[in-house]
Amino acid sequence: MVKIAPSILSADFANLERDIHRIADADYVHVDVMDGVFVPNISIGIPVVQSIRKVTDMFLDVHLMIVEPVRYVERFCDAGADLVTVHLESDTAENIHAAIDKIHAKGKKAGVVLKPGTPAEAVLPYVEKVELILVMTVEPGFGGQKFMADMMPKVTAIRGYIDEKNPACELEVDGGVAPDTCRTCIDAGANVLVAGSAVYKAADIPARIAELRG
Ligand code: DX5
Ligand code: ZN
Repeated sequence: MVKIAPSILSADFANLERDIHRIADADYVHVDVMDGVFVPNISIGIPVVQSIRKVTDMFLDVHLMIVEPVRYVERFCDAGADLVTVHLESDTAENIHAAIDKIHAKGKKAGVVLKPGTPAEAVLPYVEKVELILVMTVEPGFGGQKFMADMMPKVTAIRGYIDEKNPACELEVDGGVAPDTCRTCIDAGANVLVAGSAVYKAADIPARIAELRG
């Protein structure tokens, strides 16, 4: 069963509680954390995750687009994240492993993220120790960008690694996912689809979430 993770980057931050309740039919709440250094944009951080935790029981999928995330992962766990994902490009391999270990020590799920330029093989040292792998289908930093269909071979390659080494691991895609691109992602092997603008710009959000499940 395909899971949908609406990105609140496309929500109205002045009405965040309302906009989270609008996606109650979805599976995860995808929270994009940007530091203005790892990506050329700044979004939201720890206090906002804490506030979201108070108004929903939904699964919080926190996507860290920050440098040296090992410095902050425990605080995001304490704030209420259920899953914290860190970019492979954001620190040394040693520190990425340390970040994953810290997330697990907090009893939370951990994941790794690949930017479009990072090859599938880069996940190999992590496949057996994470609960989710996220393949970016846009350059991280902004909502509303065009879907990169050329990432699909990477999704398929990683699906192969997961099936062989850690079948319980989830495979998520993020960026430009919409009614016309969701099927491609699912066929390539993704089972969690992040969608920001496609969900929040829809006139009927529950219908759009159902549509994105393929
Ligand atoms: C981009 C973020 C995405 C973004 C997706 O850096 O990681 O989660 O919100 O937005 P859409 O679905 O509009 O491409
Ligand atoms: Zn994201």
